[in-house]
Amino acid sequence: MLINRLFTICLIGFVLASIGACSSTNYGDDQFQLRMATHGKDIMWIPTKVETTHEMLTLAGVKSTDILYDLGSGDGVIPIEAAKLYGVRAYGIEYNPDLVALSIRNAQRAKVQNLVSFKQGDIFVEDFSQATVLTLFLGESLNTRLMPTILKMKPGTRVVSNTFRIESWIPDREIKTRPGEMAYLWIVPATIDGPWVMSGLPKGDKANLVIRQKKQFFDGSINTINRRAIYFEDGRITGNQIEFEFKDGASSYTFKGQISAGQLIGILNNDPKLQIVANRPGKVSQ
Ligand SMILES: C[S@@+](CC[C@H](N)C(=O)[O-])C[C@H]1O[C@@H](n2cnc3c(N)ncnc32)[C@H](O)[C@@H]1O
Repeated sequence: MLINRLFTICLIGFVLASIGACSSTNYGDDQFQLRMATHGKDIMWIPTKVETTHEMLTLAGVKSTDILYDLGSGDGVIPIEAAKLYGVRAYGIEYNPDLVALSIRNAQRAKVQNLVSFKQGDIFVEDFSQATVLTLFLGESLNTRLMPTILKMKPGTRVVSNTFRIESWIPDREIKTRPGEMAYLWIVPATIDGPWVMSGLPKGDKANLVIRQKKQFFDGSINTINRRAIYFEDGRITGNQIEFEFKDGASSYTFKGQISAGQLIGILNNDPKLQIVANRPGKVSQ
């Protein structure tokens, strides 16, 4: 078990070092000479290239109103570039105090110190729940350890990872950043799993909707008294936006809606007259 873990850490270190080795940039400054593969708490320091940073920010669709957090922020390249390009408020959490001090100096040199803040701390302890964009360059096992916290973040939060996936969470999008290098995007889905009481269906009064959610995907059934259950598959959640299709006899329907104030509200077949509202049991509106 320990040997497996050590092997995984060495492998990730090798992958990171190979990615970083392609870069010719000099790092650090006159106060702190930064070497490739400098020790970090759970993973060593290797920088995201500036061009890759720009591609990651584009993939996340960063806007000036976002709040960006980079976990394990190294020399600060991602928050600093985000502030320079988009005028966004950006934060870095970094364990190594020398890297935190260097990031602050780098932000001053880039003249974005008013937009960017760096905090010395452990990403598994610090709070980053305010983020609307989260950036990662950490390795798959650290990404996966962060996943339960990420899934509790605000629906619609965009998570972009340089090179590494999150185990068992299929990305919403992925791009090739360089030959052999990828960046991945996940959008935190609203939680819709479980029972709902639905009203507004074309052939019925009220129905029980049961959803079985797997991150941004879901299956389910619509159950109406005295009628056969309608089963559906391949539902999709993008932040608070929800879409699924179902058949009722010969008729086909597409539901498109969103979660708003705990209610699932939407329309069928893009027809505003066919409005559907679903509430959690016990919270049914009349
Ligand atoms: C691969 S580097 C990425 C640096 C930066 N995000 C980038 O993309 O250029 C990972 C960084 O995470 C930091 N780190 C490792 N474990 C950490 C932890 N538990 N809490 C905070 N930072 C950590 C390391 O010191 C290192 O700077």
